[in-house]
Amino acid sequence: MKKSDLGDVFSLQREFEFYLQGLTDKPRKTSIAEQERRFFKDGFGKNPAFRGIVARDRGKLLGYLCYHFGYDPDEMKGRVVYVIDLFVTNEARARGVGTLLMGSVARLCSSVGGIAVYVCVWKKNKKAIRFYKSIGAEWVTDVPLMAWESSKWKSAL
Ligand SMILES: CC(C)(COP(=O)(O)OP(=O)(O)OC[C@H]1O[C@@H](n2cnc3c(N)ncnc32)[C@H](O)[C@@H]1OP(=O)(O)O)[C@@H](O)C(=O)NCCC(=O)NCCS
Repeated sequence: MKKSDLGDVFSLQREFEFYLQGLTDKPRKTSIAEQERRFFKDGFGKNPAFRGIVARDRGKLLGYLCYHFGYDPDEMKGRVVYVIDLFVTNEARARGVGTLLMGSVARLCSSVGGIAVYVCVWKKNKKAIRFYKSIGAEWVTDVPLMAWESSKWKSAL
């Protein structure tokens, strides 16, 4: 994903947001404009937090995937890849684009000696869950995710 892809990627992100809003009653916490500003800053500024891959057909953007590398010392997994965003336009679905994008990160992970690709998926997103299962993903059931708001930290030291 290059800076020149961003106009098209933002259009798809709006479609993605609309899709996700259909799965939840919770209102958005940030505006689309703020989300785009941060995506640009965090992905394309100094020390990028993530990278992206795009799938195009004759110039038209069909889908994109964002990921970042991590490290998992558990069971010697070593380098791992976290997929943080995956979206394929409605018209391009069920043609193998999502599989192609996931295949690209799988190869990327293997190329640096990694063995695991992680993805978080909303329980209500049944279609995505079916898709991930179809490409061989399995639930991680013994390591539930915990979250913590860093701004709430009050140091006792
Ligand atoms: C989930 C998502 C990325 C899958 O992308 P996709 O391009 O449709 O995926 P694929 O075409 O590779 O595979 C989808 C299905 O089509 C089938 N398929 C793949 N190539 C095919 C082909 N040439 N002909 C017919 N079917 C095909 C796959 O077997 C798969 O089967 P499934 O219905 O059992 O899952 C897409 O549906 C999407 O963007 N959803 C909304 C956003 C979202 O939920 N993202 C994930 C957030 S965690």
